[in-house]
Amino acid sequence: MDIRKAIIPAAGFGTRFLPFTKAVPKEMLPLLNKPAIQYIIEEGLASKVSNFFIVTGRQKQAIANHLDASPELDAFLEERNKKELTASIDRIVNTAHFSYIRQTEPLGLGHAVWLARHMIDKEYFGIFLPDDIFVSQMPGLAQLIKVARQEKASVIAVQEVPSECVSSYGIIKIKKKLTPNLFHVSSLVEKPSLRDAPSNLAIVGRYILSHKIFKALDQTSAYATGELQLTDGITQMMNNNEKVLAYKVQGMRYDIGTPIGWIKASIGMALQNPAYAPHLKEYLASIDTMESFVYNQKKNISHMY
Ligand code: G1P
Repeated sequence: MDIRKAIIPAAGFGTRFLPFTKAVPKEMLPLLNKPAIQYIIEEGLASKVSNFFIVTGRQKQAIANHLDASPELDAFLEERNKKELTASIDRIVNTAHFSYIRQTEPLGLGHAVWLARHMIDKEYFGIFLPDDIFVSQMPGLAQLIKVARQEKASVIAVQEVPSECVSSYGIIKIKKKLTPNLFHVSSLVEKPSLRDAPSNLAIVGRYILSHKIFKALDQTSAYATGELQLTDGITQMMNNNEKVLAYKVQGMRYDIGTPIGWIKASIGMALQNPAYAPHLKEYLASIDTMESFVYNQKKNISHMY
């Protein structure tokens, strides 16, 4: 089972991050010195996926610009012997293939995925929700690909969430626990109330799905909230007898769709990066002692000038 293609729905308004997202796509939020979308593509390439179908909307041109060649910048950096500054993105530009599809109306995640149906043959493919950033030894998507290959089935990434958070996620109903981390799924519920939640295992932004999802989305007439939900499409696909598994993906997952989630991701990633960690640790320790300029106006002034 070769999985070389992935769909990246990136057309949302980023309402949880307004007003920042009015003119700048949330996928371009920086995490250290790279935009979030770059981490997604790096995870894809590290999982041997090299064809990306990005579903975008108006105001999202910066994504395509970042993932494209930039001859002027290249020439400028080459002249100054500074090509290494763009090495990580140059590698992507040289190895990955990108296609862009416009979602002209906000009709939901299922609709965004469905728009890319012509790009997928009779095969399994990946989906990345770019709000979810994984830091893990084995890339998040690669973990799912491994299971999908072994089991010849669609696989959804899940993680346990605290009960007060279940209403923010798609939640799985377990048919059978196959191993401590692998579950046969019987249905999915999108953002249930705590009372209605069938488990505390939440979908966390990575999927390997059969191409059969497109027919299932066609059959899904229940636009529960005026939007076509991917979760409803997957449930329909299961009703059509496609096996769907959920895998507890290993690693740290950040939801960068909100300011606080993004701050946590920035700090978490900086603390793991030797170029930033020592400075940040020192800074955080100084905040802890309440001695820092944040709490001390005099220090604040001396810090600034
Ligand atoms: C989407 C999915 C949801 C999933 C979540 C993960 O919701 O619809 O099933 O649990 O992403 O981040 P959104 O956060 O886009 O509302």
